[in-house]
Amino acid sequence: MGQTNILLMEGIKKYFGGVRALDGVHFELNTGEIHALVGENGAGKTTLMNVLLGSSIKDAGRIVFKGKEINFKSPADALASGISMIHQEIRLIQQVSVAENIWLGREKKFSKFKVIRYKLRLEATRALLKELGLEQIDPLKRVNDLSVAQMQLVELARAVSYDSDIIIMDEPTSALTTTEIEQLYKIVRNLSKKGTAVIFISHKLDEILSLCDKVTVMRDGHTISTFPCGEVTQPELIRLIVGRNIDNAYVKSARAAENTGEPVLEVKNLCRTGVFEDISFSVRPGEVLGFSGLMGAGRSEIMRAIFGIDAHTSGTIIMNGKTLGISKPRDAVLAGMAMVTEDRLRMGVLHSLPVLFNTTIAAFKSFCTMLGLIKTQREMQAFRDIVESISVKYHSPYQKANQLSGGNQQKIVIARWLLCKPDLLILDEPTRGIDVGAKSEIYKLIDQLAQEGMAIILVSSDMPEILGLADRVIVIRNGRIVYECLHEEANQETIMSHAFYG
Ligand SMILES: Nc1ncnc2c1ncn2[C@@H]1O[C@H](COP(=O)(O)OP(=O)(O)OP(=O)(O)O)[C@@H](O)[C@H]1O
Ligand SMILES: [Mg+2]
Repeated sequence: MGQTNILLMEGIKKYFGGVRALDGVHFELNTGEIHALVGENGAGKTTLMNVLLGSSIKDAGRIVFKGKEINFKSPADALASGISMIHQEIRLIQQVSVAENIWLGREKKFSKFKVIRYKLRLEATRALLKELGLEQIDPLKRVNDLSVAQMQLVELARAVSYDSDIIIMDEPTSALTTTEIEQLYKIVRNLSKKGTAVIFISHKLDEILSLCDKVTVMRDGHTISTFPCGEVTQPELIRLIVGRNIDNAYVKSARAAENTGEPVLEVKNLCRTGVFEDISFSVRPGEVLGFSGLMGAGRSEIMRAIFGIDAHTSGTIIMNGKTLGISKPRDAVLAGMAMVTEDRLRMGVLHSLPVLFNTTIAAFKSFCTMLGLIKTQREMQAFRDIVESISVKYHSPYQKANQLSGGNQQKIVIARWLLCKPDLLILDEPTRGIDVGAKSEIYKLIDQLAQEGMAIILVSSDMPEILGLADRVIVIRNGRIVYECLHEEANQETIMSHAFYG
């Protein structure tokens, strides 16, 4: 196809104190190529991209871009030379509009005598969104008012608007479902046709094999190998990533959900005007209740209202037989609930506090003596057990949480709530951004907690996850319950058709 080499990275090393994040990486990229970068949480994918962009300074190695050796001093420098990146965490300015975010720093384009001509900027934004098939996004809306999925699409639009030679996407589809993912694939394919090279970082291996041309596997700061995607199967890829065999399709144990037991949680006619309506369901001890549906259907909003993050307009929430007047998460926690929110990186991680504290904070009381003294050893043991069971990659319990890779930060938040053993655990997209090995460990833990009698609500857009783990599945569409079925009756076609057409 007349592809030529555009990027060569060789012998790249990067150390953070004693941590070897990159240890001699070799990576090559051609024009027009969609090249996947895969590896476990903490393998070094984001660090490698940061080194390329100049936001991290490499300790050794050489980078050749368009035939010239380069050392970008900053991402702005890289951007000016033709490399743009969409980050794992959203980096938009929340309080300003979509249009302002997209053209941030490039207002000159639309200025005359130092005055920004808003109309021109608005037109340019509309044209850009139209070209990308993202007309559903209103350029005048404040980013704050967008869904996480829409924010990710705005990031994408901004990156594309630079007309770069290379676009790096760090887990771009993690907050998107079907429709938006299709839009993103189309955009990526069009970029590739125009000759733009795309580096695509993702933990979704089926997506990689169907979208990308090549895949490079990283493990422990090394690049293991690069293949054309047509020449590798998913099981082979998993083996390369984790270095062992893993059963990807998880099937729940034959635990009998106590159909006769009193419900832990009962929700009756819960409503938040304009968001969701008439939500009634219950969960029993030992039951995993799955919530399926499209992104934006209202699943997270329902959970946020039950947990007291958002208010509800009407309806009743009964926990262990007592009606709750929940108005804040603290009340929910006191009543025996815990929740892992979908937006963990922003809402869950206490970035500048130690990994240990981040993990044990919610279960803190169980490590205290009656006099309030902390049993440090017990705390440390509980910490080590839980982080080991879901393979968190960390250097020291006292290291700051923001030094962990994105996926490992998420694991810490999940570990926090697993440790505190609530009566009801709400998990919103628990394995988004989590590598394939740790995913199955998290499934085992969920299953085990249910066996021990915990009630679990699992909100997930990952169909195999819902089908494999949930005793019962509820489908939400447009803020309403449109379908409910038992594990035995659940299948992908029926669930998807209800999610789409109600
Ligand atoms: N600022 C930092 N200080 C110390 N260690 C760091 C820092 N940034 C990254 N690391 C370490 O470097 C290693 C690679 O992290 P990186 O973020 O590149 O992983 P990743 O492959 O992107 O993982 P994920 O899939 O979870 O996003 C990890 O062990 C991480 O803890
Ligand atoms: Mg990363």
